[in-house]
Amino acid sequence: MMDGTLSPNDISHVVDADRAHVWHHLTQHKPFETGEPRVIIEGKGVRVWDQHGKDYLDAVSGGVWTVNVGYGRESIANAVRDQLVKLPYFAGSAGSVPGALFAEKLISKMPGMTRVYQTNSGSEANEKAFKMVRQIAHKRHGGKKYKILYRDRDYHGSTLATMSAGGQDERNMQYGPFAPGFVRVPHCMEYRAQWDLSGEAYAEASVNAIEEVILAEGADTIGALCLEPVTAGGGVIPAPEGYWPRIQELCRKYDILLHIDEVVCGVGRTGSEWFGYQHYGVEPDFVTMAKGVASGYAAIACCVTSERVFEMFKDDDTDPLNYFRDISTFGGCTAGPAAALENMRIIEDEGLLENTTRMGARLMDNLRALQEHHAVIGDVRGVGLFCGAELVADRATKEPAAEKQVAQVVGECGKQGVIIGATNRSVPGFNNTLCFSPALISTPDDIDELSDAVDKALSTVFG
Ligand SMILES: Cc1ncc(COP(=O)(O)O)c(C=O)c1O
Repeated sequence: MMDGTLSPNDISHVVDADRAHVWHHLTQHKPFETGEPRVIIEGKGVRVWDQHGKDYLDAVSGGVWTVNVGYGRESIANAVRDQLVKLPYFAGSAGSVPGALFAEKLISKMPGMTRVYQTNSGSEANEKAFKMVRQIAHKRHGGKKYKILYRDRDYHGSTLATMSAGGQDERNMQYGPFAPGFVRVPHCMEYRAQWDLSGEAYAEASVNAIEEVILAEGADTIGALCLEPVTAGGGVIPAPEGYWPRIQELCRKYDILLHIDEVVCGVGRTGSEWFGYQHYGVEPDFVTMAKGVASGYAAIACCVTSERVFEMFKDDDTDPLNYFRDISTFGGCTAGPAAALENMRIIEDEGLLENTTRMGARLMDNLRALQEHHAVIGDVRGVGLFCGAELVADRATKEPAAEKQVAQVVGECGKQGVIIGATNRSVPGFNNTLCFSPALISTPDDIDELSDAVDKALSTVFG
C-alpha cells in the first residue's frame, strides 16, 4: 500500500506536470497527448505503486536492472543522509571517508584489481577506460595501439564515444557519425550461431573470429577488447562454455587489455559471485560497473583497474602529462559511496548472492517449463536473476516474433500487475527477447508470480 502522503489532487498535479514538461527516456511521447504516462510513486521491497495506486511486482528492478536490494531501504537512506550532512561533496582530486572505505570494500571482492575511479554513470565509467587505453597507447606504443574492439549486440552507453563501441545497430541509427578507432567483432550467441557449430566448437569459432579481426587490423593497433560478461540489452546472452578462457588467452597473446563491462551484471546480479566475470575465472585489466553499485539509491559508477594499469599512470612523475588527466565533477559526490557501502553490507548480511543463485535457478526452471507448452518461446537464457526468453514465430526457422506481439506480452503482464522488460530498439529485427531481472531479495512466491503472469500473457497473445 502507498503511504498516502500525496493526495489524489497532488498526484493528478504531478501527472499533469509530467505530461507538460518531462521528456521521458527511450519514449515516443505521441500517446501522452491522449493518454497518461506511467508515473511510479512509491516502492517497497520488490513492489512499486503507480499514480492510480495499482501495485506491481517489479520484475526488472527499476526498469533497467538497477534496484538490486529492493525499494524502501531506510538504512541506505540514513547512510546517505548522515553523509550529506557531514560532507556532500568534494572534488575527486581529494579523498573522502566513504570513498576510501567503499574502494577498500569493493577491492576486497575483486582479487587482482586494486584501484577504483569513481564516476556517475555506466557510460562515463566506460569512457574512462577507453581514455586510459588511448593514453596507454600514446605513452607505451607511440600512439599506435589505440583501437578498441567491441562485440556485436553489446552495449556500453549512450554517449557518442560509447555508442562508437555499440554493437546494437538500431540503437545507433541516426546518431552517427561515430568516433574512429572502434572495431566490431562477432557476437557469441549460440542460439543464433553464425556457423553450424555448437558448444565448445562454437565458442572456439567465436573467439577465432575475433582473432581474425585482430590480425586483419594488425595486433599492434589493438589496445583493448571490451565485452559484457553476459550481454544484456542485446538479448541476455551468456557466452558458450569455453569462450572466456580463450578470450583471456587471446588478450595475452596479442598484448590486448581486457575491459569487462559489468554495468548490468556487477554487484550480485548474476548470483554466487559479486561480478559476472568471476564465474568464468577471467582476469580483467578494467572492470566498469554502475546500476547495482548502490541499487539506484545514489548515482555512482566505477572504473576499476588492476595495479598494472594504474602503475602506467604514475611511473614517471617528471613527465607533466603522465597521470590520468580526467575529472568527473559528480565523481566527487559522497552519497554514492556511502550508499554503495551500505548496499554491499545488505547483500552480505542478507545472503543475497546465494538467494540470487537459488531464485535464478527457480526462474530458469519455471521459464523452461513454460517453454514446454508455449511454442513461441524459442530459447531461455540467463545467469542468476538475469534471465531472458526469446520469442519466435517459428521454432524451426527461429524467425523472431513480431515486435508488436512482444510488446503486447509486456502489456498483458502489466495488466496483471507484473512489470517485465523486452529488448528495445537494439538489434534490427530482434526486439523479441523478454527480460526478467527482479530484485535479489525475491522470494519463491515472487518468482512464481512472475512466471505465472508470463504464462497467462503468452496464452492471451499467442493462444
Ligand atoms: C552493459 C551496459 N553498459 C553501459 C551502460 C550505460 O550505463 P548508463 O546508462 O549508466 O550510462 C548500460 C546501460 O544500460 C549497459 O547496459
